[in-house]
Amino acid sequence: MSTASTGSHATQRQVADLPCPRGLPLVGNLLQLSPSRLHLILERWAAELGTPYRFQVGSIPITIWTDTELIQQIMRERPHRYRRYQPIEAVLDEMGCNGLFSAEGAAWEPQRRLVMQALSIPTIKAFYPTLAEITGRLRSRWLRAAERGETVEMTDDLKRYTVDVTSALAFGEDPRTLERDHGVIQEHLERILPSVMGRINALFPYWRYFKLPADRKLDQSLAEVHRHVNAMMARARERMRDEPAETPRNLLEAMLVQQQQAHAQPGAAPITDAQIRANVLTILLAGEDTTADSIAWTLPYLAADKHLQTHLGAEAHRVLGDASVCPDYATLKELDLFEAICIEATRLRPVAAVHSFEPLEDVVLDGVALPKGTRMFFVARPAMVDAKNFVDPQRYDPWRWMRKGEHEPQSGPHDVRAYLQFGAGPRVCPGRHLATVEMRLALSMLMNEFEIEMAIDPAKINEISQFTMVPDTMPVRLAKRQR
Ligand code: HEM
Repeated sequence: MSTASTGSHATQRQVADLPCPRGLPLVGNLLQLSPSRLHLILERWAAELGTPYRFQVGSIPITIWTDTELIQQIMRERPHRYRRYQPIEAVLDEMGCNGLFSAEGAAWEPQRRLVMQALSIPTIKAFYPTLAEITGRLRSRWLRAAERGETVEMTDDLKRYTVDVTSALAFGEDPRTLERDHGVIQEHLERILPSVMGRINALFPYWRYFKLPADRKLDQSLAEVHRHVNAMMARARERMRDEPAETPRNLLEAMLVQQQQAHAQPGAAPITDAQIRANVLTILLAGEDTTADSIAWTLPYLAADKHLQTHLGAEAHRVLGDASVCPDYATLKELDLFEAICIEATRLRPVAAVHSFEPLEDVVLDGVALPKGTRMFFVARPAMVDAKNFVDPQRYDPWRWMRKGEHEPQSGPHDVRAYLQFGAGPRVCPGRHLATVEMRLALSMLMNEFEIEMAIDPAKINEISQFTMVPDTMPVRLAKRQR
C-alpha cells in the first residue's frame, strides 16, 4: 500500500467511517440524487457534513473531496496511481467515444502526444486567420439579431462558434454551423453528454436490456454523429491523396498517418477506424460545451454591471482599433482582461464542477484508507469560494486575475492552485490555450460593438450537471454600442 498522504495506522479511518447523509436501506442515497443537480447536491452535503464524506449508491460508497492540495496530488499522480472514474470509460466506450479523455494506461500516452501537438501554441498561431474569420461570422450573426431586435440564446450561438472552431482546427473542415439555422451536427452532439451523465451515475445499466424513448433518440444522434465523422474521415483521406503534404495539416490527418504507419510496420498494434472516430468525437465533445458555456456564464456578470461594460467596450476599441475582431495573434496578449472576465465567472460558476477518479492501488489519503477502485469525486466550487483561497470570494471581481495595469490586485489570498477548471498534472486540459483564445476573441468582439442585457431574470437561470455544468438557458438582448 502506498501512503499517498499522512495518517498513521492507529488514526487511519476506513471509508465506512466517513460521515454519510442519511439514506434508505438497500438503495442508500440513490433516490436523493438527481443527475442534473448532482454538483449542487454534493456541495450541500459537503457544507453539512464536512469533507471527506461518502454517499452510497446501493452498497457502493462514493467518497467526496474538496481539499485543493489533495486533489492537486491526485491529479499529478496520474496515470500510474489514479485513473478517471471507471464508469466514464465503460459508458463512453459503449457510445464509440472512448478517446483521449477516457483512455487509460498504455493507450493514453500516444494519443495524448498527438492531441497536444494538434492543439499546441504554434498550431493555433498558424490557424489564427481561420479563427478570426469564424469570430467574424459570430459577429455577423449577432449584428443581425441586434438589428432585428431578436433575443439571442447564447448557449446555442456560442456552441455553434466552438464547434466550427474545433472542427476547422482539428479536422480541417469547417461545418459553418454559424451560418445555418437547423440540421447542424451540434444538435446531435448536445444529446450525448447529458446521457453520459445519467448513465455513469446509474445503479443498473438498464439501457443494455431495454431502451426508453430518450435512449432511442440518443442512438439516432450517435448514428448521425458517427456518419458525420466517417464522411469527414473519408474526405480527409481523399485530401491526403489528392493534395499530399509533408507533415499532417491537422489532428485527423495526424491520426490517419499514424494508422498507415502502424499498418506498414510488421508487429505494430493496428490503429482502427473506430479508435480514430472515438478521438474525433472526444475532441468535438470536449471542445464544444466547456468553452461555449464558460463564455455564456460570463454574460450575466457583464449585463449586471454597466460600468464594467463601458470599460470593456473602451478597452476592446483601444486594442482592436478599426478592426471588428482582434486582427492578429500577437495582439491577443493585450486582451488579458477578456480572459479574466471569463475565468472569474467560472470560479463562481464552474463548468468543470466535479472531477472523478479511482486509485489503481490501495492508498491512504488524508488519513483515510482507500482500497483500489474506491470511487472519488472532487467537487470544485467550495475551494474557489473559500476566503482562505480568494479574498472576498463571493464577489465577481475580474481584476483579481490581472497582474498589471491601473487596477492593482486586491491584497489578500489569491491561490490559483484552487482554480482547477482545466485540471492539473499530466492530464491537464490540452485545449486550454485554444479555449482562452476563444474567450478573448469572442468577448472582445462582443464588448467592442454591443451592449448586452439579460432577457430574463438571471436568478431564474439554473445550473445543470450534464457532465459539464451548464446554464439551462442564457437569453441575451444585444444593442449596437453608440460611440
Ligand atoms: C473552457 C474550456 C475548457 C474547460 C473548462 C476544460 C476542462 C477540462 C478538464 C477539467 C479536463 C480534465 C483535466 C484533468 O483531468 O486534469 C479536460 C480534459 C480534456 N480537454 Fe478540456 N476543457 C476546455 C476546453 C477544451 C478544448 C477547447 C478542447 C479541445 C479542442 C479540450 C480537450 C480536452 C481533452 C482531449 C481532454 C482529455 C485530456 C486527457 O485526459 O489527457 N478541452 N478539459
